[in-house]
Formats: sequence, C-alpha cells, structure tokens
Amino acid sequence: MGQVLQEMMQSNPRLMQRMNDVRDSLESNPIEILTVPSDKCPLRKCDGSGFIWIKDWSKRHEKNVMDECKKECDCYQQQRKQREIDKKLDLSGIPLIFSKATVQSFDTSLYKVTENRKIAEIAKKAAVNFVENYPIMKEHGKGLYLYSQVKGSGKTRLASSIANALIKLYAADIAFIKSADLISQVKKTFGSKETNAADVVATFRKVELLIVDDLALKGATSFEEGILYDVMDYRLENKMPTIFTSNVTIEGLENIYPGGRVNKRINKMAMEIYMPEESIRDVEADTENAEFEKILFGE
Ligand SMILES: Nc1ncnc2c1ncn2[C@@H]1O[C@H](COP(=O)(O)OP(=O)(O)O)[C@@H](O)[C@H]1O
Ligand SMILES: [Mg+2]
Ligand SMILES: [Zn+2]
Repeated sequence: MGQVLQEMMQSNPRLMQRMNDVRDSLESNPIEILTVPSDKCPLRKCDGSGFIWIKDWSKRHEKNVMDECKKECDCYQQQRKQREIDKKLDLSGIPLIFSKATVQSFDTSLYKVTENRKIAEIAKKAAVNFVENYPIMKEHGKGLYLYSQVKGSGKTRLASSIANALIKLYAADIAFIKSADLISQVKKTFGSKETNAADVVATFRKVELLIVDDLALKGATSFEEGILYDVMDYRLENKMPTIFTSNVTIEGLENIYPGGRVNKRINKMAMEIYMPEESIRDVEADTENAEFEKILFGE
C-alpha cells in the first residue's frame, strides 16, 4: 500500500474500516452482478437481453483472466422458444384473420338454432380433445374432417384455432393450405427451373400436420385427384395427421374424386365432425356494419 494511502487510513479509522469491510465481503462473495434487472426480462433477472453480466473479483489480480463474463439468464431459453413459436405461426399459412383465434373463444352461442348450438358444442369439444390428445392422435396419424354444407359456419376458424393451439403447446410444424392452392403450387412448378413438382409434393407429404382447407370445393380433374392422392397416400402410410375442412361429406368425395381412392384414404385418416348448417358470417357482418353505422350516423 502506498505511503500516502497508509497515512490517510491511519488518520481516518472509519475509512480503514470501510475498505476492510469491502475486502472481506469480496472475499466471501467475490461475484458481483453488473446487470441491472429491468421489466424487459419476464423474470426480472436481466435487462431483457437474456444475459447477465457478472464480475468475479477473486480473479482481478490474475493475469490474462477475464474477470467479467456473461451468463445466460433463465429467460433466454424461454425467449428462444417464443421466437421459434412465433416463426412457426408465421410460416404455417394460417389465415391472417384467424391468427389470434383460439379454440376457447370459439363461440357456440352465436348460432341461432338450438340444435346448431349443440352441434357446435360437440365440434368444439372434439377440437379441445384433439388438442389435448395430440400426441396420441399424431402417433396414430388420425386427423379431423370438419364438414358442413353451409359456408361461414366456422370450419376454417375452428381448424385455424386448433393449429394455433398445437403450435403454441407442442411447437408443432404445420402447413395450412387451401386445397386449390395446394394443387396450383404443384402446377406452378411445371416449366420452372428453380422448383420441381416432386419437391412441392414432398413438403405436403412430410409436414408434421397438414391442414387442407376447402377440400373438394369443385369438381377435380384426374390430374388434380392424382396430386391429392399422392399426398394423402403417403400421409396415411406414414401415419401423419391431416385436418380437412369441406362442404362435402367424406362419402360424398367419391363424386368429386371418382377414382374412389381419395375418399377411402381420407376415411381412414380423419374423424368426421359435423359443423352447424348455419352461417355466422351474416351475424358477424351485421354486428360489424352496426359498428360502422354508429361511426357514420351516430347512435
Ligand atoms: N363459433 C364461432 N365463434 C366466433 N366466430 C365464428 C365462429 N364461427 C364462425 N365465426 C366467424 O364466422 C366467419 C366465417 O367462418 P369460417 O370459419 O370462415 O366459415 P367456413 O370455413 O365454414 O366457411 C368468420 O369470420 C369467423 O370468424
Ligand atoms: Mg372456410
Ligand atoms: Zn432475463
């Protein structure tokens, strides 16, 4: 210790006491946390960066040893997982209007006819059970077939909400696609140098869970039937779950895909769930318009 400092400390016993206290506490606990915790960390441990900077005072005299380093905050893995889920939601193809739709918020009271409310409740329960038992359904390659003849009864919404839940709960890999888009994506590859049909078909064959929206909206050519068969046969053979929405029953698919091979496969792949024959779109449009009427014309 320098001469001046020593003299100063001797003449100031309180300063000496403080310096000794600091030395003792650093020796018993030489780790100092440099990061100031903030609300940006969900656990309030780091500053939101996912890392905590620490200084190890016991190493301060060692040469070529870093006495400051960062360690992972417990929120780091949580944040990484959240980013992975956000990315999966983003890439899934779930329609934007249903990106926040949950199974819980599927409102069965919107259907006006009592019988339809009951049908909706059964469908909702099946959706809840599917989500809860997804590991088993996945293992057996069993999906769902949401059917109602009427448009706007909630088929796409319910399928979307199932997809949202599976990504959030199981980090499932999902491709949500309208059946017409599936076909056109394959067709688009013809004559293209960058992509080929087999690659596109392979992505739909191999994705963990495929959701085909509006299956059989219109009659199919045998070529289109072939593409669908190609995808479905692979998924059936490999026990991979698929969810369909359609305004044709599984049995009725035979009229649209006359080869008879598509409906037989789908029959094995998915449990048929009836949706109410009632459109909620009208109710929704009425409420929405009422809101805008208020804006335009006042109460
Ligand atoms: N049970 C429900 N709860 C809340 N909104 C619903 C429900 N069913 C349908 N909707 C709304 O009605 C509209 C039509 O639903 P959609 O799923 O597109 O019908 P579908 O696929 O049967 O033609 C959507 O805007 C959706 O938000
Ligand atoms: Mg739909
Ligand atoms: Zn943190």
